[in-house]
Amino acid sequence: MSDSRVPRRRRYLVCEPRHFAVQYAINPWMQPDVRVDVDLAQEQWQALISAYRTHGHAVDTVEPAPGLPDMVFAANSAVVVDGRVFGSLFHAPERRPESTHYDMWFKTAGFDVHRPEAVCEGEGDLVWTGRYMLAGTGFRTTREAHREVQEFFGHPVISLTLVDPRFYHLDTALFVLDDSADGNNVSYYPEAFSPGSREVLARLYPDAVLATLDDALAFGLNSVSDGRHVFIAPQAESLAASLADRGYVPVPVDLSEFRKAGGGIKCCTQEIRS
Ligand code: ARG
Repeated sequence: MSDSRVPRRRRYLVCEPRHFAVQYAINPWMQPDVRVDVDLAQEQWQALISAYRTHGHAVDTVEPAPGLPDMVFAANSAVVVDGRVFGSLFHAPERRPESTHYDMWFKTAGFDVHRPEAVCEGEGDLVWTGRYMLAGTGFRTTREAHREVQEFFGHPVISLTLVDPRFYHLDTALFVLDDSADGNNVSYYPEAFSPGSREVLARLYPDAVLATLDDALAFGLNSVSDGRHVFIAPQAESLAASLADRGYVPVPVDLSEFRKAGGGIKCCTQEIRS
């Protein structure tokens, strides 16, 4: 079974946590006076980058800007599908300036960037499954943005309502295991969604790998999969075991320092799909 899972080489965009800190609170995980161990954060982040490279993935980096402590969370700054970049407009004023830095990176790399009119936090809430764009709303990204995303990409957007403030971004409650046409599948924590959204997910993904509350609290759903390897928080033990049962290969990467800001592996990783 395990050999049937085929990885696909990815291109990831990341931002070094040189200025990472917790200076304001915009989600329930953040406590402004909590001390961040910057050296440990750097070490953990470097281990993530090495894990990507060891598994054959390409990694590009954006230069971190001083005064933007959350800029390390690259996922929030855009969603890129078919080489088309849909940029971000952050909910929190503290994070708004990040967009300019990421947009500049994309422009230099040869991409045009669409600037959204409505609040939209990139891959934090917009999850490309290879077939649909799953789009979270409830805390950050708005339904207006979902409509804009559908017009922009011309791919079906499925709006999902998040109901638990601890799982304020869609990528804290769900991730894509396999974006290929045949094995298309996701993993998620059902209770993070409204009853209707839960039903939608059950219809679309009857074979989904369901996570427990403990897995979700350990940021186990903030994982990155290449179709075979799943880069996952080591604390999400039961989810890692379920994934292994299904033939995936969990690759544990501990980003515990970033949890102090409400972030994990996926938050630190944006995928560039050309
Ligand atoms: N402190 C950041 C915020 O609340 C964390 C972002 C985490 N990113 C993510 N993709 N979930 O905006």
